[in-house]
Amino acid sequence: MSDPILYAHSQRERYLSELQAFLRIPSVSTQPEHDADTAVAAQWLADLLRAAGLENVQLIPTAGHPLVYADWLHAGSGAPTVLIYGHYDVQPAEPFELWYTPPFEPVVRDEYVYARGASDNKGQIFAHVKGVEALLQANGRLPVNVKFIVEGEEESGGASLAAFIPQHKTMLAANVALVSDSAILSPEQPAIVYGLRGICYLYLDVTGPARDLHSGSFGGGINNPLNALAHIIARLKDEEGHILIPGFYDRVRPLSAEERAILAQFPLDEAAWLAESGAPQAWGEPEYTLVERLGARPTLDVHGIIGGYTGPGGKTVLPASVHAKLSMRLVPDQDPEEIRHLFTQYVHSITPPSVRVTISGGHGAPASITDYRIPAMQAARAAYREAFGREPVLMREGGSIPVVGQFQQHLGMETVLMGLGLPGDRIHSPNERFYLPNFYRGIEASIHFLQRYASLA
Ligand code: BES
Ligand code: ZN
Repeated sequence: MSDPILYAHSQRERYLSELQAFLRIPSVSTQPEHDADTAVAAQWLADLLRAAGLENVQLIPTAGHPLVYADWLHAGSGAPTVLIYGHYDVQPAEPFELWYTPPFEPVVRDEYVYARGASDNKGQIFAHVKGVEALLQANGRLPVNVKFIVEGEEESGGASLAAFIPQHKTMLAANVALVSDSAILSPEQPAIVYGLRGICYLYLDVTGPARDLHSGSFGGGINNPLNALAHIIARLKDEEGHILIPGFYDRVRPLSAEERAILAQFPLDEAAWLAESGAPQAWGEPEYTLVERLGARPTLDVHGIIGGYTGPGGKTVLPASVHAKLSMRLVPDQDPEEIRHLFTQYVHSITPPSVRVTISGGHGAPASITDYRIPAMQAARAAYREAFGREPVLMREGGSIPVVGQFQQHLGMETVLMGLGLPGDRIHSPNERFYLPNFYRGIEASIHFLQRYASLA
C-alpha cells in the first residue's frame, strides 16, 4: 500500500500527455463525417480503462455511437457501488476561424489545455479514470465497487444511452452515480450542482409557395414564410422573457422558501458574469433573481434560423421554405413530451392559413434535482474540501445532462455532480479550455470521494 495521492502526483506528466492524445480525436457525435473518429475515441477510452486496471471492459454497440463500460467489483460484501458517468463525444468545433489554435491540436498555455472537449467532457471524465487508476496502482484495490459508463452521444441528445438504461438495470445498478460534467465557481471556490435543467429541442419548418417567388410580382399577395416564422417566434415569449405557450408553467414546481434562501446566498459576481458574456445588460423575468433565472426557471431560445437569400448583395425573393431550431430548458416537474405537445398545439393555433408549419425532430430530457443531504453529497463536500481546500457551495445549473434524470427515473439512483470545469472554459464555444490545476485536483477529489464514500455509505 502506498499513497494514491502521491502516486497521482508523480504521474502528472503522463496523465497530461494521455489527455492530449484523447483530445486529438475529433469525436463530434452530431456530424456524420466524424463517425469514424467517434468510434476511435470509444476504442481508445476502452483501452485506457483496461490499462488503468479496470475489468469487464466492453464497447457496447448501439443504434448510434458505442457505449464504453468497465468495472471493478472486488471491494467486498457490504461495500457500496459508484457508477461513474461521462461522455467522450464533443460539440462541433465550428466556427473554426475563431480558434487561436486548431481545435483538435491541443496546446498548453498559461496552465490551460486548449482543445474542443477539453472541459466538456474529456478532461473531466479523465480525472476519474486517473483517480481510479491511482488507487488501483497504489493500493491494488478500490475502497468501493466502481462501474464506468461513458457515452458518445451526450452532445446530440443521448438517445442510445436513454434506450439502454431501462434494459440494463442490473448492469448499471449502483448506490450512487458520480458525474463531473459541470463547472465550479473558481479554482478557489468549488461548487456542487444539485439541480439541472431538462430540455425539449425542436425543429420548426414554415413553408408557403412551391418555389421562391419574385417579391415584386407576388409580394403583398402571398405570405412570406420568413416573415410568418418571425411572427410565430415573436409570439412565443414576451419582452420580459415570460413564455406565452398556454399551460407551459403548469407543472413548474414552485421554489420553496428554503431553496430561495440557498440560491440567494450563492456568491455570483453579477458584473463579472456579465462581462464574461460580453452582452450590454442582463435580462429576464423581473420577478426572479439572476441566479434563479439561470438555474431554476425554464427558458425558450431560438438557436438558428435558415431561410431566404443570405449571399452577397440583394435578392428580391419570397423564400419557399424556412427553418428554425429552438429549445426550451425545463425545470422539475415539467415533462419534455408534454411540453412538446403544448408547443405544437400553440404554434398551430397561431399559424395563419397562408403558410404551413411542421414541427419535428429534436430530443428531450427531464430536469433533475438531487437531495443535497444524502451521504454521497457529504462525501463530495469532503472531497472538495480536501482537494480544493474550501467548502463547496450548492447551486442549480442551467445546462442539461440528460442521463441524470434517466438514472433517477429508471434506476432510482441519485447523482452527485462533482464539476471540475470553470465558468470561463468556453464550452461549446471557440477556444474551449480546461484549467490544469483543476484536472490534478480533480484526480485527487475523485480519490477522496471514493475513500470517503466507503466510510459514509
Ligand atoms: N456539460 C454540459 C452540461 C453543462 C453545461 C453543465 C453548462 C454545466 C454547465 C453538457 O455536455 C451539455 O452541453 N449538455 C447539453 C445537452 C443537450 C444537448 C441535450 C446542453 O445542456 O445543451
Ligand atoms: Zn456539452
